[in-house]
Amino acid sequence: MSYPYPLRVALWQKLRSKSRGFSRQHYYNCVMRAASEAAALGHNRMTVIEFGVAAGAGLLELERICSHIEKTSPVRFDIAGFDTGMGLPPPTDYRDAPWKWQEGWYDMDVNGLRSRLARAQLVLGPVAETVPQFLAGGSPSPIGAIMFDLDYFSSTADAFRIFSLSRPADRLPRIHCYFDDLGNIEDVGVPRAIAEFNEANEAMKIRQRTYANDLRDPYALAWKIYEFHDFRHPDYMRPVRQKIA
Ligand SMILES: C[S@@+](CC[C@H](N)C(=O)[O-])C[C@H]1O[C@@H](n2cnc3c(N)ncnc32)[C@H](O)[C@@H]1O
Repeated sequence: MSYPYPLRVALWQKLRSKSRGFSRQHYYNCVMRAASEAAALGHNRMTVIEFGVAAGAGLLELERICSHIEKTSPVRFDIAGFDTGMGLPPPTDYRDAPWKWQEGWYDMDVNGLRSRLARAQLVLGPVAETVPQFLAGGSPSPIGAIMFDLDYFSSTADAFRIFSLSRPADRLPRIHCYFDDLGNIEDVGVPRAIAEFNEANEAMKIRQRTYANDLRDPYALAWKIYEFHDFRHPDYMRPVRQKIA
């Protein structure tokens, strides 16, 4: 009774989820848009990341989404999920909004999840340590899409080192991002992490990017879709669209 859209919208979502084998349209849109840019820039592989894995529902969904896209795209995917493996760490200070989250929430059955994953790499440990380690050997392919779901300000700010520590060769000039935890005032939580990153980086920005199609689809979660842009990336100005007649 409280569903705010015509019931045909829910029916459409149910039918497309059933036929494609996944339901997170917001994840799909980010990965699909990134794959299209990767292909236009001449890449045949790209990396998709989920920060914050918990029991693995999102990472398993990413595997299904990538397999679906690979049926029609020339691009192949490397997938990585980052998590402590032990649930939320203790909050650092008020900026982590400790009234909302508690240490130990969202713990993981590591072996159980590993046995269910078909190909995603599980990178376990605090992201402050695992992100530099992951990048030390170079990303397996350019990073094109990232789903952020770490809840805290501190964890999200640490995860942003994926942007500041990576070499341009490790990422596409633009990275399509989803932020799960935007429900806060701009002085705390993820909104603060984004604002501080933008303040600290003159030539790299993380900005909300609203697509008209997303506004028509409540399952696209339009307000949670962002893009990371690196204005100095060697490919930033290379065209990625066909000529418009
Ligand atoms: C809300 S859960 C993720 C849910 C998952 N994305 C999904 O869709 O099913 C948040 C996760 O972030 C992880 N996390 C938070 N801070 C972290 C940090 N500093 N390093 C690594 N993982 C962290 C927690 O362990 C927790 O599992």
